[in-house]
Amino acid sequence: MLFKPTSLYQFYKRYETLDLTPIHQSNPQPFTMIELEAIIGKKTSFLDDQLELGYASLQGDLRLREAITTLYEHENPDEIATFVGAQEAIFCAMYSLLKAKDKVVAISPIFAPLIATAEEIGCEIDLVSLTPTKDKWVLDLAQLEASIKADCKLLIINFPHNPTGAMLTEDELLKIIDICDQNNCWILSDEVFRGLEFKPEQRLPAVADLYPQAISIGVLSKSFATPAIRIGWISCQDKMIIERMIEIKSSFSICTSHIDEQFAIHIILQHEKVWERSRNKVLNNFSNFDRNVTKSHLLSRFIKPQAGCVCFPLLNDAILASDFSEELIQNKNLMTLPADLFISSHNGIRLGFGYDNNSHLISSIFST
Ligand SMILES: Cc1ncc(COP(=O)(O)O)c(C=O)c1O
Repeated sequence: MLFKPTSLYQFYKRYETLDLTPIHQSNPQPFTMIELEAIIGKKTSFLDDQLELGYASLQGDLRLREAITTLYEHENPDEIATFVGAQEAIFCAMYSLLKAKDKVVAISPIFAPLIATAEEIGCEIDLVSLTPTKDKWVLDLAQLEASIKADCKLLIINFPHNPTGAMLTEDELLKIIDICDQNNCWILSDEVFRGLEFKPEQRLPAVADLYPQAISIGVLSKSFATPAIRIGWISCQDKMIIERMIEIKSSFSICTSHIDEQFAIHIILQHEKVWERSRNKVLNNFSNFDRNVTKSHLLSRFIKPQAGCVCFPLLNDAILASDFSEELIQNKNLMTLPADLFISSHNGIRLGFGYDNNSHLISSIFST
């Protein structure tokens, strides 16, 4: 394990002294404590006076795992394990499933940490690109099938998608599962934006509920808008994989924070209300900058996101995404993330509309 710094980390590091205003974040405006208390219907004094401040259990507090099962069809807390954020879950999942030279298929543009660990392990990675059409990003299932047929060990998917805000239909998801099933291929499904579909009826089932060789990943930092509480989790029907992931976790965080677990239980039990608050926020913010962006001469295409709180407008060919992003940093003190950080040949930049303050900043870039 070399732990090579990821391109995303290097990018943040390069500009960390500049005190930039971020307009790329991938989470909705975080809750304040007072707002959270109103939604979960409890004062934070719910933290029991007698709560013992010891280590949490390795797999995660049973009450928390029971709360997490309310997000899934499978109501078995043994099929859940908790991690410090989604990031640790991704790491442990990769190390539990993969070895050097295994073939992994992923979809670009991609949140790069989703393949960084597979790269470190020495896997061969094949990227299938989403195609921008007039009004949505499309996954070519025939191309995906051809890639998976060639002895693939793991498919990595992430819908709702970062950075495009794209969704699959349920039929597309079922077809993907069918392809993997026929080829004995695992699926790692990063579902951290689940709950942030612009139309709740677009919400997809969790892949781990549909397919025994799947790991679904969730976290409090995205649709739950509480990144201060570092709780992520996986759902997986395969007990041996869960056990292996916990073994790997024991070399890192060992367990999540017992205090975070107490918060997480109450937040997750109110997930519909919490998601509704996040959705209303992102929809409102999005509508505030949508018009300016759509008609901007700087863009060749703006495909509206269907979910989540990020989008990936495509710039005119004459403007290279990395140059545009650099110019925003140097001249406007604004941080966006260019296409190369998402290993994408599409000339886009990631913008985030989760934070209330971002809309007018984004509008100001594109109204000129
Ligand atoms: C798609 C995706 N997966 C996982 C993560 C990691 O989540 P966390 O930082 O809460 O561990 C992120 C964070 O941006 C993400 O965008």
